[in-house]
Formats: sequence, structure tokens, C-alpha cells
Amino acid sequence: MACVWKIILLNIFIVSGRSKFLTGQFWHITDLHWDPSYGVGSDNSASICASSGNRPTPNAGKFGDYLCDSSWTLINSSVHAMRDILPDPDFIVWTGDDTPHVPDDHLGETPVLNIIGNLTNFIKALFPNTKVYSALGNHDYHPKSQMPPEQSNIYEHTANLWQDWLDPASKETFKIAGYYTEKLLNQTGFRVVVLNTNLYYDQNKLTENIKDPADQFSWADKVLCDAAKNNEKVYLIGHVPPGFFEKKRQKPWFRQEFNKRYIDLIKKHHDVILGQFFGHHHTDSFRMFYSSNGSPISAMFLTPGVTPWKTTLPGVVDGSNNPGIRVFEYDTKTLLVKDVVTYYLNLTYANIARARWEKEYRLTEAYHVPDASPASMHRVMEQISKEKCYLQKYYEFNSVSYDLTDCNADCRIDHVCSVREVDFDDYESCVLKEGVSSTGPVLFTLFLTLMPSLLWMN
Ligand SMILES: *[C@@H]1O[C@H](CO)[C@@H](O)[C@H](O)[C@H]1NC(C)=O
Ligand SMILES: *[C@@H]1O[C@H](CO)[C@@H](O)[C@H](O)[C@H]1NC(C)=O
Ligand SMILES: *[C@@H]1O[C@H](CO)[C@@H](O)[C@H](O)[C@H]1NC(C)=O
Ligand SMILES: *[C@@H]1O[C@H](CO)[C@@H](O)[C@H](O)[C@H]1NC(C)=O
Ligand SMILES: [Zn+2]
Ligand SMILES: [Zn+2]
Repeated sequence: MACVWKIILLNIFIVSGRSKFLTGQFWHITDLHWDPSYGVGSDNSASICASSGNRPTPNAGKFGDYLCDSSWTLINSSVHAMRDILPDPDFIVWTGDDTPHVPDDHLGETPVLNIIGNLTNFIKALFPNTKVYSALGNHDYHPKSQMPPEQSNIYEHTANLWQDWLDPASKETFKIAGYYTEKLLNQTGFRVVVLNTNLYYDQNKLTENIKDPADQFSWADKVLCDAAKNNEKVYLIGHVPPGFFEKKRQKPWFRQEFNKRYIDLIKKHHDVILGQFFGHHHTDSFRMFYSSNGSPISAMFLTPGVTPWKTTLPGVVDGSNNPGIRVFEYDTKTLLVKDVVTYYLNLTYANIARARWEKEYRLTEAYHVPDASPASMHRVMEQISKEKCYLQKYYEFNSVSYDLTDCNADCRIDHVCSVREVDFDDYESCVLKEGVSSTGPVLFTLFLTLMPSLLWMN
């Protein structure tokens, strides 16, 4: 009897010990957008922050406002929450956008570098022994989004700020064009590639007529070819994602030819790419990549932002979000993404009571999938596309439980097509096709309703 118990206990020990050994965890944070003006405005101003752009903020509180970028109190609270929830992650992915949404003439090269420096020092102070893989966002430049395809003062200064996080070779390529690659945690067989996709952003005037800005595509192609030769597994990290914004019909970020080339890169190298981690949207979503014969080959995770700032992009209805931070669980031997756990701060509650960071959801529980592999993420997409309850759940997570209104037929098309189709033409076909299939039943019902009266008229 005692022996049986011993075996059971031993088994429990082995099983739990082993799975713990195989499962690693890392943080992904993005779009902190610190607004240093928060709360220091003059008394006669209707607004508490420069980033609201004079939109009145009657409900502003200590932790922030849905019309403003992050207060320091919110930045402090979010990085402290990371340390409370998971103090010893394997590493941190930080995908940029540190400065407030204000006109360029309110900032300047020095203020931008100071803000990047302030956030860098703060993360370093709370995670002194943690490796951080950091990417530049389009707001980490002056003038904003104008990243040059060559050496610049801001690249050089940022490389110095991130010196402790960069291998010497990474620092060199970063200074030249804001991208780098190195072994993941210095381990053989594992690699990170941090891209400067701000070079592909259609707002960037400096790369408009360049085929391969800063030779990043050919560089990445070579890095990924070498990775395949060396049996490495790779995580891709960046800020501006390819494809479309899910909160506005027909709104891509990349220039068309760059979008195409990015997709080609993923199609060619998906075998070694085990995950793509991006920001910029401030919302919680994901993007699917498929092979030419239609099988899911890669998933890109879009992590929600810390800033709650309501976007001023015309056509977006109520584009605020609650502050979000995210833990990825992964297989340390294969880099398979096993699960995604998102934590959030209910900003309304924080301002009236206290800062309470809660688990919002765990991917595998919310969508009943075994992991976050491309096949599983494809299943998540299918569920969202076919079942109203999953669509609504996804929609509420999309704004980090801020917008709890109903996701109607148009909303469904925007979200399903942007998740499923990263390619410009395929997105357009999807919008047409889904539009027909959603109005189809409506027209049919209308026909059935009208038919008796039509007959009567005859
Ligand atoms: C930062 O957050 C911690 C943890 O909530 C808190 O103890 C500390 O007072 C905060 N500091 C500032 C400057 O807000
Ligand atoms: C931010 O950095 C600037 C320049 O280094 C420094 O003067 C300022 O005190 C920092 N602010 C915070 C809140 O860390
Ligand atoms: C990385 O590993 C190599 C050998 O495996 C070692 O020489 C080097 O010091 C390590 N670098 C760091 C930053 O730990
Ligand atoms: C956030 O907090 C407010 C105030 O307590 C509450 O009314 C609202 O339902 C909360 N939102 C969520 C998603 O829990
Ligand atoms: Zn942003
Ligand atoms: Zn951005």
C-alpha cells in the first residue's frame, strides 16, 4: 500500500516537475505611451492631459483617463503589476511606443529620448536581472514615424540606452537601422529577430520609394535561412504589424509592396518561426498566415497596450481600451506558444477605488483550444467567425473589456477579415464574401416577408 502511494507521489513529482521544466513564461508589454503632462495642466484647461487634444476629460482620475495617454501612476502600476504577477519571467518582450500622442512640435529629439530613457530605466529598476527584447515603435522617433533607413542619432542613443539588453553585434545593427538578431537567452537552437517595421509604415515618408529599406528584408531572409540551416527556432518581434486594423474597414499600416514582401518572408520561413509578437493596435487581436494551399502556418499575436488613449483615427467608434499586459507560456524545447494570459486594469474601478490588476482571460480556457499553435489559432478564428458567443467574447477582449457593446454584422466582418487575411487583395475579397453571406439571409428573409404581399398585389 505504502509502495503504491510512493509511486503515485513519484509520478506526480515527475509529471509536475517535468512540465514545469518544459514550460517557460515571458511578459509582452507594448504601447505604454507615457504622457508627462498628465495632471500637471493649468486649472482653467478643460482637459487633464495634452494627449486628449482638448477633448474634455471630466472623469479623469489618478490612474488615467480613457481619452489620455498613460499617467506616470499608471505606468508605475503596470510595471509593478508585472512584478507582482510574475517576478521572474525568462525574458520580457517590449514592443515600443513610449511617447504621448501630441503634435510633433510639442516634442523633439531630446524629449523623445528622455521618455524612452525614463521607461527603460524604470523597467530595468524593477527587473534588474531580466533580459528585455525591445523594439522601436513609430512614436519612438522625432518627427514621429519618420524612421530613416540608415544610421541616425536616435537609433544610436537608443542602442546606448538598451546596451545592457543587447549583444554587441545586436547593438551594431541596431545603430544602423533599428533591427537586430541574437540567440534567445544565449542558447544554442533558439533565436529572436527584432524588426524595425516602422520602415514599412505608410506614414513614413523616408522609405516611400525604397524597395528594401535598410536592406531589412534581405537581412531577415538571410538570418532565417541560416536559422533553418542551424536547426534554430525563432521568435519574430516588432511594432507596426502587416495587415489591417480590425476597428476600421480597409485600414492597413504597411505600404502594399512591403505588406506583400512581409507575407512572402513568413511563407518562406514559417518552419523556423514559432511566433510573431507585435503591438501598435493597442487592442487585443491576432493575425493568421496560411500556406498557398490554405493550411495555417503562422500566427501573429497583437498584445493590447498599457495606454487607454482613445484613438482619433476617423471612422473608429469609441477606440479606447483598458490597460493590458500579457504573459506568454511556451515550450522551452520547441518554442511552441502554449498559452496566452492577459491581465488588465479596470481603469474606471481603479480611479474610484484602487488599482486591481486582474486576469482577464487565458486563451486555452476562453476558446477551448489545446494551445496557441497556428492550427489552434485557426480554430479560434473559425469559432469567432461562426459562433456569435465566441465573436462577442473576442470582441470584449479586443478592447480589454472596455467596450462591452454588441458586435453586429459589420463589426463581425471587420474583425474576421482582418484576423484571417493579412494580404490586401485577400482582405478585400473576404469583406465582399462575408458581406454577401451576412446580408444573404437578411435579403432572403425580406423576400419571404414580401412574397405574400407581392402575390396579393398580383
Ligand atoms: C508605484 O506602485 C507601487 C505598487 O503599487 C506603490 O507602492 C508606489 O507607491 C507607486 N509609486 C508611485 C510613484 O506611484
Ligand atoms: C526622465 O529623464 C530625464 C532626463 O534623463 C530626467 O531629467 C527626469 O528626471 C526623468 N524623469 C523620470 C520620471 O524618471
Ligand atoms: C553566451 O555563450 C557563450 C558560449 O556559449 C559565452 O562565451 C558567452 O559569454 C555567453 N554570453 C553571455 C552574454 O552570457
Ligand atoms: C469596471 O469597473 C466599473 C466600476 O466599478 C464597473 O461598473 C464595470 O462593470 C467594470 N468593468 C468590468 C469589465 O468589469
Ligand atoms: Zn501606440
Ligand atoms: Zn504605434
